[in-house]
Amino acid sequence: MTDIAGDPAGKPTSASRTTLSHIMTANDTNLLGTVHGGVIMKLVDDAAGAVAGRHSGGPAVTASMDEMVFLAPVRVGDLVHVKAQCNWTGRTSMEIGVRVLAERWNESTPATQVGSAYLVFAAVDAEGKPRRVPPVLPETEQDERRNQEAQIRRTHRLARRQAIMVLREERAAQGFDE
Ligand SMILES: CC(C)(COP(=O)(O)OP(=O)(O)OC[C@H]1O[C@@H](n2cnc3c(N)ncnc32)[C@H](O)[C@@H]1OP(=O)(O)O)[C@@H](O)C(=O)NCCC(=O)NCCS
Repeated sequence: MTDIAGDPAGKPTSASRTTLSHIMTANDTNLLGTVHGGVIMKLVDDAAGAVAGRHSGGPAVTASMDEMVFLAPVRVGDLVHVKAQCNWTGRTSMEIGVRVLAERWNESTPATQVGSAYLVFAAVDAEGKPRRVPPVLPETEQDERRNQEAQIRRTHRLARRQAIMVLREERAAQGFDE
């Protein structure tokens, strides 16, 4: 579906929100006996990828993952819920926010947040070239706040990349061969 300007029509946040749940096993542990951070990162990438595919209506690839934070250890037997939603959309990219919660197998406490991350996915066509994505339509105050915060992160990502490019060009002009 497209609007009169030929742009894809907007999609509400709830249309692509996704939760993946997974029980942690002994195969997922590090040398300390708790769950390996890389196992959680894979689940985060999977959940965010599902959201990006749903929102964009086709294939999407991970362009970046940042601010991956681990707040508390995850243990064998925990039921881990990975909740992801599209926070922001650009022309061909989407920021997906992810929260990781753990239900402790041996405690009757509510699920505790154990991590979070922000990922940028680019929607791609059959040749792997970026393609347009529908604008995300925030539905709640929380969605709106996340959308505004995502725009701040986007501005910072671009500024950081630009500053590093300028520095590298300056060093190359000074004759540093790296
Ligand atoms: C991501 C990828 C498609 C971008 O392609 P590109 O030719 O650089 O295209 P563009 O520069 O037009 O970038 C496309 C969009 O992605 C965004 N993007 C690209 N690199 C990014 C990065 N490192 N961080 C955040 N956003 C990024 C751009 O800002 C742009 O967004 P917009 O259209 O909403 O403004 C390309 O780099 C790629 O295929 N990377 C490999 C992805 C992959 O295989 N992931 C799995 C890892 S195993």
